[in-house]
Amino acid sequence: MFLFLYIFLFFQQLHTKAGNSSCRMMGDPKYPLLTKDGDIIIGALFAIRSKETVPSFEFAQKPQLLSCSSVNLRDFRMAQIMIFAIEEINRSESLLPNVSIGYRIYDTCGSRLSAMSATMGLMNGPEFTEEYRCNGQSPIHAIIGETESSATVILSRTTGPFKIPVISHSASCECLSNRKDYPSFFRTIASDYHQGRALAYIVKHLGWSWVGAVNSDNDYGNNVMSIFLNTAQKEGVCVEYSVKFYRTEPDKLKKAVETIKKGTAKVIVAFVSLVEMGLLIEQLSIQNITGFQLIGGEGWITAKSLVTPNSFLVLGGSLGFAFRKINIEGFSNYVIKSFWDTAFPCSKTERNASQHSLICSRYQDLLTLKNYTEDVSEQRYASNVYKAVYAVAHSLHSLLNCKEHAACEKGLAIQPKQVVEALKKVNFTVKFGDDVWFDSTGGAVAHYEVVNWQQDSNRSFHFKPVGYFDASLPPDQSFMLNTENIIWAGGQMEKPISVCSESCPPGTRKAAQRGRPVCCYDCIPCAEGEISNETGVDN
Ligand SMILES: *[C@@H]1O[C@H](CO)[C@@H](O)[C@H](O)[C@H]1NC(C)=O
Ligand SMILES: *[C@@H]1O[C@H](CO)[C@@H](O)[C@H](O)[C@H]1NC(C)=O
Ligand SMILES: *[C@@H]1O[C@H](CO)[C@@H](O)[C@H](O)[C@H]1NC(C)=O
Ligand SMILES: *[C@@H]1O[C@H](CO)[C@@H](O)[C@H](O)[C@H]1NC(C)=O
Ligand SMILES: *[C@@H]1O[C@H](CO)[C@@H](O)[C@H](O)[C@H]1NC(C)=O
Ligand SMILES: *[C@@H]1O[C@H](CO)[C@@H](O)[C@H](O)[C@H]1NC(C)=O
Ligand SMILES: *[C@@H]1O[C@H](CO)[C@@H](O)[C@H](O)[C@H]1NC(C)=O
Ligand SMILES: *[C@@H]1O[C@H](CO)[C@@H](O)[C@H](O)[C@H]1NC(C)=O
Ligand SMILES: *[C@@H]1O[C@H](CO)[C@@H](O)[C@H](O)[C@H]1NC(C)=O
Repeated sequence: MFLFLYIFLFFQQLHTKAGNSSCRMMGDPKYPLLTKDGDIIIGALFAIRSKETVPSFEFAQKPQLLSCSSVNLRDFRMAQIMIFAIEEINRSESLLPNVSIGYRIYDTCGSRLSAMSATMGLMNGPEFTEEYRCNGQSPIHAIIGETESSATVILSRTTGPFKIPVISHSASCECLSNRKDYPSFFRTIASDYHQGRALAYIVKHLGWSWVGAVNSDNDYGNNVMSIFLNTAQKEGVCVEYSVKFYRTEPDKLKKAVETIKKGTAKVIVAFVSLVEMGLLIEQLSIQNITGFQLIGGEGWITAKSLVTPNSFLVLGGSLGFAFRKINIEGFSNYVIKSFWDTAFPCSKTERNASQHSLICSRYQDLLTLKNYTEDVSEQRYASNVYKAVYAVAHSLHSLLNCKEHAACEKGLAIQPKQVVEALKKVNFTVKFGDDVWFDSTGGAVAHYEVVNWQQDSNRSFHFKPVGYFDASLPPDQSFMLNTENIIWAGGQMEKPISVCSESCPPGTRKAAQRGRPVCCYDCIPCAEGEISNETGVDN
């Protein structure tokens, strides 16, 4: 009876709370790093900084805010290209004419904790007003993000029940293709399904039957590695070892490095996120572990940040899949001038900063990048962010019944779930020529370039395209590799050999070694009455 009464009162209380307009936020709001209002608002989560300092949690006082440091140039460029695209659409007279587009870009610090509170900030909205509304309406129409797959899983699962569309520019985990778990998820990147398989074909094509494997212990690394291992096994490629580690596990990293050092495979397949790759390369460089042919995924293969004076010894000759480099007209000028004039919150010192509770010291570390553009031409994810913004704009263009040279119905209240449905139907071409549409899993078509790390006569390095993989072409034309242009591990002109056992010469046959992979065997001279006139025969 008491229990019943208690539950009754509890629900009564809930009920009045929900109906009470003085509903308010518990705790401190989290502010976006970059923000502008508009008729339509696109949210975004990028790891603009990559290091988070967690304050000490004492149970006697309210926890302090986390502080972020260490600017991650790649994600900062993503935020810049997003605003660049938004300003372009804002000016356009054919796409969403006279509709202004705003944005709220949060910095997640590459941490799951910060990403979670940023997600809440995006979903709940107006942080700036004193009076916090609980009308159950998200102020944003779509979210662009995240960069890493694990963080995107968290984001999509959190926003999923509210049917807020999430469009990722770089989360490639095949796990996100599941429409049942992620019904409002889209991406302008292809799932790793093709990448994991195609890399196994490359290894086979190059005659390597004995490889080592290392991956990040996260959703991206584990998923793509299992796709690779499956395909490799079917193709007769043997894997000597498969090790993994996560960025917060130095002991596991040490073990992985030991395994690589002890191994006999000369080829290492690495499905490693950028952060882990930095740690791995550092260890290999320090310990002088060179001469391994690295094969990798787009997670690290074109990351200029991995290049240090010593790392070329380890990374030179690496081979892997990358996105095509696309020159987005005007972006390079934008990052040195317009961005700081129009979108950067603290460019004008005379502005009354307290107005928006913005503390300009928050932006000091970004200011140091003001004149830096060297990396811009290598930003391969930027085009994915650009496409994601345009996809949102095209879906709203149709939802607001915009017609060319006629006003859009700006007053229509658009629900996020309507945007989800509209996104499923978009099909347009961006100015650099790519077609954008989403397949039945919400993903993009796989289209990679095969790149090779090479050094020119100035000892500066570049990523040379040596082939491609295009899943939209018929199977016999989808893959091309030009081995003549490849420079191999350690700057060698000759392809390294990575086999467990040499092929058996004529006059002998293979004999399996007990308890070892099929690629390891002995060569036994033919018995009386038997012949073998070819190399590498079983009988
Ligand atoms: C909401 O709650 C406040 C204080 O608890 C009360 O003063 C106010 O009348 C309530 N408003 C409504 C609409 O119930
Ligand atoms: C969009 O255009 C409007 C009107 O010209 C302007 O006030 C607003 O600042 C622009 N928004 C962005 C994000 O450029
Ligand atoms: C690394 O290897 C190079 C060449 O083999 C050698 O000259 C150098 O001394 C080594 N460095 C260390 C720290 O072992
Ligand atoms: C800044 O804005 C706040 C709030 O609007 C106001 O109280 C303050 O006087 C302003 N400061 C200056 C220097 O204008
Ligand atoms: C950027 O370059 C301009 C002109 O070359 C210079 O005046 C300015 O101080 C530089 N800014 C930074 C942050 O280095
Ligand atoms: C956009 O607004 C401008 C100024 O308010 C107006 O002249 C123009 O006709 C409008 N364009 C459309 C397509 O409604
Ligand atoms: C997209 O549109 C083009 C022509 O406008 C058409 O050829 C193509 O098949 C469409 N693609 C999809 C996936 O609907
Ligand atoms: C080497 O550097 C010089 C001067 O910086 C430049 O002119 C030349 O094109 C570079 N060579 C290559 C192969 O990049
Ligand atoms: C090996 O012998 C078989 C059967 O006699 C013959 O068909 C084949 O051409 C020979 N291969 C070579 C490389 O001589």
